[in-house]
Amino acid sequence: MSDGTGKDALERAVDAHAPLVEAIAAGIAHEVRNPLNALQINLGILEQELTEIVPHGHRHVFEVIGKIAHELRSLDNFVTEFLRFARPPRPKLEAVAVRPLLEDLVTFMGPECARKGVSLSLALLGGPGTVVADAFQLKHAVVNLVLNALQATPDGGEIAIEAGGDEATLDVVVRDTGEGMAEDVLPRVFDAFFTTREGGTGLGLPIARRIAEAHGGSLALRSREGEGTSACLSLPAGPQVG
Ligand SMILES: Nc1ncnc2c1ncn2[C@@H]1O[C@H](COP(=O)(O)OP(=O)(O)O)[C@@H](O)[C@H]1O
Ligand SMILES: [Mg+2]
Repeated sequence: MSDGTGKDALERAVDAHAPLVEAIAAGIAHEVRNPLNALQINLGILEQELTEIVPHGHRHVFEVIGKIAHELRSLDNFVTEFLRFARPPRPKLEAVAVRPLLEDLVTFMGPECARKGVSLSLALLGGPGTVVADAFQLKHAVVNLVLNALQATPDGGEIAIEAGGDEATLDVVVRDTGEGMAEDVLPRVFDAFFTTREGGTGLGLPIARRIAEAHGGSLALRSREGEGTSACLSLPAGPQVG
């Protein structure tokens, strides 16, 4: 197995030019996301209005509207992900109980996994019971890892979430029995916009790693093609540590 670590040039540039990136991101948030939201709302209104006046023989117009709505959703999703990457909010630190956070996550993701015939399990093997973290960001990072695992795992496969570590460090490992990654893919997975999935943004892992690092932690992936992948998110238990 090999490790997928190391920042790519784009990520280093983003770090080095934080104020500029902030300004661009603010511009995108305002000049792209706002009109995009207006487009989505207006398309919804148009669809409702047309329902009343379009005769039955012309229902294909709703397929066209559906396609536009789909593309707008993809674009909205991309812009949202991009902003999370370029302008990650400072973590709002609080004491977060690990068990309920992971249990909630499994409750939330379980049905989606079950729909694909993939089992999702949670094991609390050790580590701190509480970490000082931003609960929303921590959940978001682990959800990204579980989503990736699910996308890579066929019917009948398994995803296991394990919490471990020691008193000072929480390790959350997300392990899957999915397709794994080729050796030339693994070193690139933290590159912003690198994706092998159709419709992928290539930002899920860079965002998850940024969240880990903003908490003073790290994210590493190990994978073997045809056997599966495991992602380990490590966080210090609290600011008094390290
Ligand atoms: N659990 C996994 N199993 C196999 N490949 C993975 C896994 N997680 C990530 N990858 C690979 O890393 C790439 C980047 O992941 P990510 O940053 O989340 O972006 P996206 O999911 O939008 O492609 C994926 O396209 C895939 O090739
Ligand atoms: Mg992803």
